[in-house]
Amino acid sequence: MAGIRLAGLTKAFGASRAVDGVSLDIPDGEFVVLVGPSGCGKTTTLNMIAGLEAPTAGDVYIGGERVTDREPRDRQLGMVFQSLALFPHMSVFDNIAFPLRIRKTPPAEVRARVEAVAETVRVAPLLGKRPATLSGGEAQRVALARTIVMRPRAFLMDEPLSSLDARLRVEMRTELKRLHATLRATFLYVTHDQAEAMTMADRIVVMQYGVVQQVGPPLAIYADPVNHFVAGFFGVPPMNFVAGAFAADAGRLAFRAAGVTIVLDRPAEAVTAHDAVLGVRPEHVRLRDGTGGWTATVSLLEPLGDETIVFLDYGGATSIVATVDPDEKIAVGDRRRFMFDQDKLLFFDGTTGERILR
Ligand SMILES: Nc1ncnc2c1ncn2[C@@H]1O[C@H](COP(=O)(O)OP(=O)(O)O)[C@@H](O)[C@H]1O
Ligand SMILES: [Mg+2]
Repeated sequence: MAGIRLAGLTKAFGASRAVDGVSLDIPDGEFVVLVGPSGCGKTTTLNMIAGLEAPTAGDVYIGGERVTDREPRDRQLGMVFQSLALFPHMSVFDNIAFPLRIRKTPPAEVRARVEAVAETVRVAPLLGKRPATLSGGEAQRVALARTIVMRPRAFLMDEPLSSLDARLRVEMRTELKRLHATLRATFLYVTHDQAEAMTMADRIVVMQYGVVQQVGPPLAIYADPVNHFVAGFFGVPPMNFVAGAFAADAGRLAFRAAGVTIVLDRPAEAVTAHDAVLGVRPEHVRLRDGTGGWTATVSLLEPLGDETIVFLDYGGATSIVATVDPDEKIAVGDRRRFMFDQDKLLFFDGTTGERILR
C-alpha cells in the first residue's frame, strides 16, 4: 500500500483552469476527503491521479514514485465510482472474481481471495445471487469488493454514495469508515457533501475554483475556517453572516451592523476601520431573558426533535438562525432577546473574505 503526493497539479481546459496548482501529501493509510461545490475540480484531480487525464502541469507520486506519465493500469489504484456497473448476468461471486480471472489468477487463489473480501465487506451470504436481486447498499458493497480484491495500493472514490437514498448513505458512511479501519489503506474520497467529509475524514481538503482553500482535521476546519467560503460550506444550518464595519468605541474595537453592535475586548487599533463580516454558528446564538443583547421577533420555527431551529428577525438584511433545546418555550411572533458567545465569533474581511482577528 502507498501514500499519494501531488505537486502543483494543474489542469487547464482552454483558458480556464479546472485544477490550479494543487499540492497535497497523503501519508499511507490516511482517509482524506476532497470536498467542494460542484465544478470545483474534484473529479479532474482524481482523474489525474488515476492517470485518466493528463495534467497540464505538476506531478503525481504514488508510494514516493513519480507516476505522472504512467498508464492507469500501471499505477495499481482502485477506483470506486457512483455508477457501479456490476455485470447483471454474473453472480456476485463471479462479479468480484472478474478482475482476477482477467489476470489469469489460479482458480484456488480466486476462490480464497473472493471469499476473504466478501467477509470484509459483509456480502458472504450473497455470493450466489444476481446483482438485480441486491439492495442498493448490497450492490455498493459488491462493487467495493470487486475493487478491494485487486489489492490496490490506494483507493480513489468519486462520490460513490451519491446515488443512494439518504438513510442508506448515512449507513454506508459508517461502513466505509469501518472498512478503512480494517484495510488500513490510503483512501482519497471525493464528495460535494460536507456531512460526508466531516464524518468520515481523517483530514479534509476543501477546494473552490480548482484551488485548495484549507486542509485539516474536520473539527479544526469547522471551528477555525480560513475564510468566508470555508466557514459557510460546513455546518447545518449554516453559519450566520452579518455584514458591517469596524469602528472605535472608547478605545476599544467595535463591530457595527444594522441591529447589532458588538464591542470587542481588543484595542481599536487591532484593525484599520473597514468593511467586515461577522460569522457566528447557530449553536453559538443564545436566547436569553432579561436585559442585554439585542431584540428580535421569532419568525419561523423548525423542530427537528433533538433541537429546534429558530429564525430571528432582528432588523438586519437576513434572519439570524439559532438552534435551541427542543424544550425551550418559544412560539412564532415572540419577542426575544438574543446574544452571541463572544469567544466563538469569527470575522472576515468584507472584501477578500479572508479571516481577520484570528
Ligand atoms: N473534459 C473537459 N473539458 C472541458 N471542461 C471540463 C472537462 N472536464 C471538466 N471540465 C470543467 O472543469 C471544471 C471542474 O470539473 P470537475 O473536476 O468535474 O468538477 P467536480 O468534480 O468538482 O464537480 C468544471 O468547470 C468543468 O466544467
Ligand atoms: Mg465530480
